[in-house]
Amino acid sequence: MAPSAIEVAFSEKVSPEVQKEKLSTPATGEKESYFPTKPLGLPHPEYTTPKGVSPLISVPSAGLQYPNYTPFKLPDLVEHLFTDKAIGSDPKKAALLGAATEVKHLTPAIGTELVGLQLKDLSNVQKDELARLVAERGVVFLRDQDLDVYDQVEFGAYFGELHIHQMAGIIPDIPWVHPIHKDETATQGRSHQIWHSDVTYEIQPPGLTLLRMDKLPKAGPDGYETGGDTIWASGYGIYESLSPTLRKILETLEAKHSGLEQAEKALRTSGCLRRNPIETIHPVVRTHPVTGWKTLFVNENFTKEIVGLEKRFSDALLDSLNRTIAEAYEYQVRWKWTENAVAIWDNRATFHTGIFDYFPHLRHGLRVAPQAEKPYFDPNSKLRKDDKPN
Ligand SMILES: [Fe+2]
Repeated sequence: MAPSAIEVAFSEKVSPEVQKEKLSTPATGEKESYFPTKPLGLPHPEYTTPKGVSPLISVPSAGLQYPNYTPFKLPDLVEHLFTDKAIGSDPKKAALLGAATEVKHLTPAIGTELVGLQLKDLSNVQKDELARLVAERGVVFLRDQDLDVYDQVEFGAYFGELHIHQMAGIIPDIPWVHPIHKDETATQGRSHQIWHSDVTYEIQPPGLTLLRMDKLPKAGPDGYETGGDTIWASGYGIYESLSPTLRKILETLEAKHSGLEQAEKALRTSGCLRRNPIETIHPVVRTHPVTGWKTLFVNENFTKEIVGLEKRFSDALLDSLNRTIAEAYEYQVRWKWTENAVAIWDNRATFHTGIFDYFPHLRHGLRVAPQAEKPYFDPNSKLRKDDKPN
């Protein structure tokens, strides 16, 4: 009997160690490797994701639960040096945009689709310009990407230290990959639909974040492939829409972002918590280090209180800001995924929410998230709308 696709893939597999070794010793003309070093104590040491195969197929084929919640202990994250690759890149982004066959700005405020590019073929100059485009436009989309999970890790790690989630399921041998996975086993509810930026309780939350969707729900009438769109909203746009008086107040404030609730939920449901959960104080308004623009930095998932305010005033202000984010239609873009489409967003300057309208169908994607700088506010930074070229 002819081997199945998965059997062929397993027989041709390249272990991450071999791949890392191969990539980390570049000969002339070869690309430098950014593949990270694996943390100690990963579960299932016998398992290796085959090159070119989606973990959605390979992990269950190896007899393991997918996504895998087996706990392994990770040390607390500590502050580390981060320099945004986009700083110093060409403001015109000529190498990147010149190579695209089409550049579609999907709304005035947020979202650009690039056509005719493969992420894995970009030069470092083009990657740096892509990071600038993401910083400016909030989220950049590309369809039909030939990018397997190793390519994705390699691509993400170029921009910074990849975040490993404190509790979410992981691919057992590639822990920097966060599976976005729902099927008929999903718990009904709307918690996952809350507008948020990812893991803002971390000391250095992710900046540029890359999600590739490889399985889309057939949730329409007669099994039509539809459902599971994602919406992003611009933090720059929402912030500049507020009154000058309110902005002046917000710029003096800090807020507590907490990972405790998420950690408690994890212990209650999957029993998997890899790090000691933390709470971190961040400015309510932060400055983006590449654009120099001010952006609103609170979200309903993780921002629990405004520092120094009585609870009722803190709750009222956060409720008002969260409602403003959710209702800011003119600063939103809604993306309809296609197989192997990629979204790259700037988690510092956007909010997002996945639309869970496809139960009980399967939707699957893989996310990598390089950590960025510790959020800061520069009082000399500008509103995007005031940053006109001289
Ligand atoms: Fe998210």
